[in-house]
Amino acid sequence: MILILLGPPGAGKGTQAKEIARRRNLVQLSTGDMLRAAIAAGSPVGLKAKAIMESGGLVADDIVISIIAERIAQPDCANGFILDGFPRTLPQAAALDDMLRAKKLSLKTVIEMKVDDEVLIDRVSGRFTCANKSCGEGYHDRYKKPRKEGVCDICGSTAFTRRADDNAETMRNRLTAYYKETSPLVGYYFAKGLLQSVDAMAGIGEVGDAMNKLLDAPSGPTAAKSSSK
Ligand code: AP5
Repeated sequence: MILILLGPPGAGKGTQAKEIARRRNLVQLSTGDMLRAAIAAGSPVGLKAKAIMESGGLVADDIVISIIAERIAQPDCANGFILDGFPRTLPQAAALDDMLRAKKLSLKTVIEMKVDDEVLIDRVSGRFTCANKSCGEGYHDRYKKPRKEGVCDICGSTAFTRRADDNAETMRNRLTAYYKETSPLVGYYFAKGLLQSVDAMAGIGEVGDAMNKLLDAPSGPTAAKSSSK
C-alpha cells in the first residue's frame, strides 16, 4: 500500500503516519525528518536545506525528489510506504507519478488532513519529539504526553527535542508556503480520483480511527466520496 498524507504544518501527518506504519507494516517516509537528519550530519544537502527550513520556506524540488527516489528504491519500501510531507509542490507530484509508473506501482489514496490555522499554531508550539534517532516519536505538552513523564512510550529514551522551526514567525511562513505551493495538490489528486479528507480537528485517536476506516474500505476512493465527515 502506498499512500500520501497531505496537510498543513502541524496537521498531524507525522503522528498518524507513524501509527499507520506500525499497524500496517509500512515505512513512514518523512522528507522533513530526512532533511533534518542531513542537517545533523552536515551533508551537502543539509547545508543547502538548513537556512531554508529555518525560514519556513520549501527546499528545492530537485533535492527532495532525489532524496525520495533514492529512499523508495530501498528494500524496506517493498511492502509499501506512507509519504509524509512529500510531495509538496506540483513538480514533486509529477516526479512521484513518474517514479511510481517506472516501478509499476500505484497510489492507493491521498488523505487530506483538514485543520484550522489557529489550531495548527497551538499544535506546533507544544510539540516535542523523542531524541532517539531510530524512534522520533512525537508528543505534545497537552494533547499527547508520554504515559510516564520524561520517558518515551515507544523506546524508553529520556531525551527529547523541540524543533527550531516551531515558532510563530516561521510558522507563518510555513503556512504561506503550504497555501501557495502545496494546497494545489488537493485539486491535483481530486482530479485523479485519489483524494479523501479527514476532519483532523478531532483528537488523535479519532483521527486515526477515521483514517483506518478509509484505508480499510473495500473499494478505492472516488472523487465523489471525498470526505469522511
Ligand atoms: P516537515 O517536517 O514535513 O514539517 P511540516 O509539514 O511543517 O509538518 P510538521 O512536521 O510540522 O507537522 P505534522 O503534520 O507532521 O504534525 P505532527 O504529527 O508532528 O517539514 C519541515 C520543513 O522541511 C519544511 O518547512 C520545508 O522547509 C522542508 N521540507 C520538508 N519536506 C519538503 C518537501 N517535500 N519539499 C520542500 N521542502 C520540504 O503534530 C504536531 C503536534 O500536534 C504534535 O505535538 C502532536 O502530538 C500534536 N497532534 C497531532 N495530531 C493531533 C490531534 N489530532 N489533536 C491534538 N494534537 C495533535
